[in-house]
Amino acid sequence: MASSSGASSPSPTDVTDYAGRVVIVTGGTRGIGRGCVEVFASAGAHVVFCSHEPDGGAELSTTVTARGPGRAEFARCDVADAGALTALVTETAVRLGRLDCLINNAGWHPPHKPIDDFTLDEFESLMRLNVTSVFVGCRAALPFLRLSRGCIINIASLVATIGQYHATTYVASKGAVLSLTKALAVDEARHGVRVNAVSPGNIDTPLWQQAVDQSPDPRRTRADGEAAQPLGRMGTAEEVGRLCLFLAAGATFTTGVDHIISGGAELGYGRKVAD
Ligand SMILES: NC(=O)c1ccc[n+]([C@@H]2O[C@H](COP(=O)([O-])OP(=O)(O)OC[C@H]3O[C@@H](n4cnc5c(N)ncnc54)[C@H](O)[C@@H]3O)[C@@H](O)[C@H]2O)c1
Repeated sequence: MASSSGASSPSPTDVTDYAGRVVIVTGGTRGIGRGCVEVFASAGAHVVFCSHEPDGGAELSTTVTARGPGRAEFARCDVADAGALTALVTETAVRLGRLDCLINNAGWHPPHKPIDDFTLDEFESLMRLNVTSVFVGCRAALPFLRLSRGCIINIASLVATIGQYHATTYVASKGAVLSLTKALAVDEARHGVRVNAVSPGNIDTPLWQQAVDQSPDPRRTRADGEAAQPLGRMGTAEEVGRLCLFLAAGATFTTGVDHIISGGAELGYGRKVAD
């Protein structure tokens, strides 16, 4: 339908095509970030991804680039270092001539414990990793995203909305990411920049496996993780990547929204109903 306000609506897009676009994914060497790197490169994008550790970065960029049609490039960067993250974003956008999408994914979930056992240093360093890096990444990317009318996707978490046992610091950090997303979406709409959150439930990644391995009963922890979803399994990193691609390439009238990808874990008051 034609717009009565005179504002032009975008022409129809192929939601699986992101050719010619430049994307930055923080924390892309494994897990959800890796899923995003692979999906966006398979849609034709030039993806620059980072990690604070070198492990796996070069191999992943070689494999993804060989597969095409897009390409992936690894850069070592600790997102908790504001100067390094700002330089990564700015240098990438200047060198490649544009920036279309920033996915703020790098983050960590500390082992579960009551608030009494968290130190102030632990809380502050988690906020620096999970929240400050999102602020820094967005601030550095926006001058370029305003030119391309691009988008930001912040990886939050389902537990920001429903809470989680013995995880006060993590849940607080992801709540901050969600709120920042909404406030930034309000400010940037006038520039045509969309800012959305993706909130995964249980996604089978190395981080989730770490939680399994550290638990007193690893088999039970994994079984409980699978059973938490009415869909009967955990999600995959690729499924989260596909949602992010849809938000970037196709969801052109969506901003400031928390997109939960949880296999229905929170539905029906979280109660699991057996037949
Ligand atoms: N897996 C889940 O079930 C789940 C659920 C909700 C939210 N999340 C969120 O999704 C994001 C990714 O989680 P995941 O499960 O894929 O984790 P993961 O540990 O499997 O992978 C994390 C990635 O981030 C990178 N990274 C970590 N610290 C970094 C730093 N300081 N600087 C740069 N890179 C860094 C790692 O190198 C890795 O590439 C996190 O923000 C996490 O909180 C995950």
